[in-house]
Amino acid sequence: MGIVINYCENYEEMSWQAAEIVAGEIKSKENFVLGLPTGSTPLGMYENLIEMNKSGKTDFSKITTFNLDEYYPIKRDNSQSYYKFMFDNFFGKININPENINIPDGEATDAKIECGTYDQKINHAGGIDLMVIGIGPNGHIGFNEPGNFLLPNTHVAVLTEETKEANKRFFDSVNEVPDRALTMGMGSIIAKSKKILMLVSGKSKANAFRQFLEGKITSGNPATFLYLHNNIIVLSDIEI
Ligand code: PGA
Repeated sequence: MGIVINYCENYEEMSWQAAEIVAGEIKSKENFVLGLPTGSTPLGMYENLIEMNKSGKTDFSKITTFNLDEYYPIKRDNSQSYYKFMFDNFFGKININPENINIPDGEATDAKIECGTYDQKINHAGGIDLMVIGIGPNGHIGFNEPGNFLLPNTHVAVLTEETKEANKRFFDSVNEVPDRALTMGMGSIIAKSKKILMLVSGKSKANAFRQFLEGKITSGNPATFLYLHNNIIVLSDIEI
């Protein structure tokens, strides 16, 4: 209990350990509820889990998933939607029941209602058994960006110009980057998840991770709010 930090030799080892943890947890309980992130960090974990599924070691047919965030507004079939990312890199390659997949709806007509509904769906599922998250170079989790304050529940986040600039490489131009996103809040993540697995990968995360390790909770580094939870595993491929 508390926070356990495991340093891994490299990205491959981190990805393998992450997949082993997820697979082990899924086996431990019927109708497991798994929270999932997008980004480059979890790709190796997803590849390992796909292999475990193919070899019959891990069964996803009974799990329910909740994704951390999604751009807004965005069409599901947009090449940059997190919906598409998840189907291309994971859901489309495992034996999950599509009805059990939950991703904040970038096509919702009312973003605020969608956020409220999303939190209710998590509650209805009995909370999240294991939430996997990455960390941004500035300590962000999902679209909970550093600032004077954080919003606790799933909410509509307005992308900063900095984030739009950082993400424009994936779009045709900066104008194509959606100006908002739907994201679970740090409160929804902490209160609704029984266990959290944070993956820290790459030197660009060193500053944010160093600050995280100081253990002081600050809205200037949203990841530090994880200290309010008492069951966190951190896997890092960078040693601080
Ligand atoms: P990355 O992003 O996995 O692509 O590094 C993590 C994040 O920004 O949350």
